[in-house]
Amino acid sequence: MALGEVLFTADQIAERVAQLAAEIRRDLAGRPLTIVGVLRGSIFFLTDLLRQLGLDATIELVEAASYGDRTVSSGQVTLRRYGHFEVAGRDVLIVDDIADTGNTLAAVRRAVEAMGPASVRICVLLDKPARRQVAVDVDYRGFVVDDVFVVGYGLDHGGRYRSLPYIARLAEET
Ligand code: IMP
Ligand code: MG
Repeated sequence: MALGEVLFTADQIAERVAQLAAEIRRDLAGRPLTIVGVLRGSIFFLTDLLRQLGLDATIELVEAASYGDRTVSSGQVTLRRYGHFEVAGRDVLIVDDIADTGNTLAAVRRAVEAMGPASVRICVLLDKPARRQVAVDVDYRGFVVDDVFVVGYGLDHGGRYRSLPYIARLAEET
């Protein structure tokens, strides 16, 4: 698989991340906030968003893996939490790279809600609504994408392309 066209440049991403941070700040500033980052795809978005937010948020991390191959999602998601994972009584913002089938975000939200937070919101850089299998309330979304596989800015394909500073579509090799 080769790289296809660039969908979002580094500048476009930075501009949108700043806008999302401003929205989130308006809603959540002044309250005890915990950001829950979903590894590994969210790492670029997570750190850029945190810098733009400028809020004194605590950070928790969860690793999500879904069984089955990517095109036929089994809907089964395993989560691994890091450290204490304290969210009780706090506003939680779950941050992930992309809402695709919705299975991952639904599982993360369920796990977080079971831990007694004051509120739970979801923020994704990309939203692919055409592939949704499970409804998820996305509160903040960067860009909507068509049903194409995208890489870069944290998103990978079999471990490749994750560190690109922009987002491109993956092209079929001919
Ligand atoms: P879900 O299908 O919504 O559970 O998404 C599971 C995970 O698949 C996401 O968090 C991403 O890490 C990954 N994923 C979904 N669509 C893409 C894509 O187009 N490119 C790269 N990773 C993707
Ligand atoms: Mg992910």
